[in-house]
Order: sequence, then structure tokens, then C-alpha cells
Amino acid sequence: MSFRARHLLGIEHLAPDAITEILDLAERYVDFNRRTVKQSDALAGMTQINMFFENSTRTQASFELAGKRLGADVMNMAMAQSSVKKGETLIDTALTLNAMHPDLLVVRHGASGAVNLLAEKVNCAVLNAGDGRHEHPTQALLDALTIRRAKGRIQRLTVAICGDIQHSRVARSNLLLLGKMENRVRLIGPPTLMPSGVAEFGCEVFDDMKAGLQGADVVMMLRLQKERMDGGFIPSEREYFHRYGLDAEKLSHAKEDAIVMHPGPMNRGVEIDGTIADDINRSVIQEQVEMGVAVRMACMDLLARNLRAERGAKASEVME
Ligand code: NCD
Repeated sequence: MSFRARHLLGIEHLAPDAITEILDLAERYVDFNRRTVKQSDALAGMTQINMFFENSTRTQASFELAGKRLGADVMNMAMAQSSVKKGETLIDTALTLNAMHPDLLVVRHGASGAVNLLAEKVNCAVLNAGDGRHEHPTQALLDALTIRRAKGRIQRLTVAICGDIQHSRVARSNLLLLGKMENRVRLIGPPTLMPSGVAEFGCEVFDDMKAGLQGADVVMMLRLQKERMDGGFIPSEREYFHRYGLDAEKLSHAKEDAIVMHPGPMNRGVEIDGTIADDINRSVIQEQVEMGVAVRMACMDLLARNLRAERGAKASEVME
């Protein structure tokens, strides 16, 4: 096994062969999920707790289904109604849950680094379901699986990531993963939404869609993350769509067989034209959602194996 970690906190520390191992196992779960009866015992007897401090539709549903199909006992904490609202700190909440012996904690939090901090305080496996602008590793992995299935490989491709790069953990995790797998990454967006020093990641930066999309194999659109903006980053949504929104004209500069991706939730008419998003010949947005469940099953399956190996080793030490 190549993926030997206790937690999945980001793409940053994943080796290329660990990424390949996750994608290969996920591929098997894609077939499994298409069966009528989808029940495995990979996580049987294990407890999974989902803690989402930020809103989520697909990521939370995806982790919940993934855990259930693997046979775990899954609990969704309703964070809006939890003691966090009474002033309890993230660490105290984590320690409280830890005392109930969960095996997997799936955490989404608005602060970058919060999930790493939490992972240091608990005895179980922690999966980062998105922390602030930092990382969203399962999104990058599901994007990689979607690309690999559409293009037949996840190497030597030109991938354009477009829009609100500055506030996007999806962009950051994808940039790291695509770089590790030796792809060419282009970032396209207005200078106000482009983090400084981003070229150090070895990508090309554009502020013009036409130039940036030239010859791209993959066009990945990002949501304009208004909830993370505290000032005037764009003149108006109308103007933004005009310059950066993906429509047929802009897409015509990419390769003829380029695929269109979006992590969701989409703002139709802001970063993407509705007809492009719904075009089954170009858009793989629904496949991304399907791959999400399979990738999360693969990640949790591998983490559970690591957990069992770690605890098995400890148990035998105690026996001696
Ligand atoms: C993304 C996220 O939460 O970072 N969504 C997702 O997980 N599918 C992107 C976004 O919110 O725009």
C-alpha cells in the first residue's frame, strides 16, 4: 500500500503513487455504486462522524452515502444546533466527540488550518472536507478521477482553472494534485482574485479567458465565493460574466474535445452559462458528483485499513 497516513488533510503531503492508489480503488467503487445492491463491510463496526461547520450539499451527502455503503455507523452533527453556538471551542467539541470513540471524523470548517489542528487532538482518522481557503483534498481527487476517465490519463494535460482562485480551496488542492501528476496548469482570473506568488507553484497566470483557454484539455470553472469577500473584488456580476463567465464563444478557444468542470454549487450566469453547464457533450459536472462518492469510499476504505493496522500493532504490543 502506498497511502499509509493516519489522516487525509490535504493533497500537499500525498505522493503521486498514493494518489494513483486512491484513484484505482475509487474506480472499483464506481462500478460498485452502479449496482442495485451497494453494501460493503469495509467499515463495518466503525463509527463515522460528519462535522460540517460550513454549509454543504454535495460534499456532506457524498460522505454520508460513502460511509453507509461501506457499512459504517454514520452520524451527522448538526453544527448549527451544537454547543459551538454556546461558545465551545473547536478543540473542546473535538475532544468531547473523541471521548465517544469515533473511528473517522469528516470535518469542514471555515478557518484554514482548523482541520489540521483538530487532527492533532484526536485518536481517530480525520478527513478534511474543506478548510477555509486551504485545502479540499477529496474534491481534487474526484476531479482527477473524472479527468482520468474522460481523457484516459491524468498526466501531460493542459488544465485551465478559471475564476475566483484567491478564495478557492478547490483551486489550491487541484493545483497541487495536477502539478504532482505532471500536468500543465493555467490559472485564469481577474488580478483582484489571483493570489500573489501563485506563479511559484509552477503554473501560468492569465487575466484573459481567450488567451488562457487556448489549447486547454480541461476547463475547470470556480464559483465566485462571495461569502469570503469583504470588499469590491469585481465591478459587477454582469461585467464578471462578460469577461470571465464561460460561454460557447470563450470555450471555442479550448481544444475541440475539452471537457468542462465545476465543483458546484454553480452560479449560472455568473461564472458559467447554463447551456454550457447542461451540455452533455462538454460538461462532466454530473460525473464529478458521481466520482465524489466513489473517491470518498476509496479514501475511507484506505484510512480504515491503516487504522486497523496501527491499532492491531498497538494491541499486540500490549499483549506482549
Ligand atoms: C466547493 C467548496 O466547498 O469548497 N464546493 C464543494 O465542495 N463541492 C466549492 C465552492 O463552494 O464553491
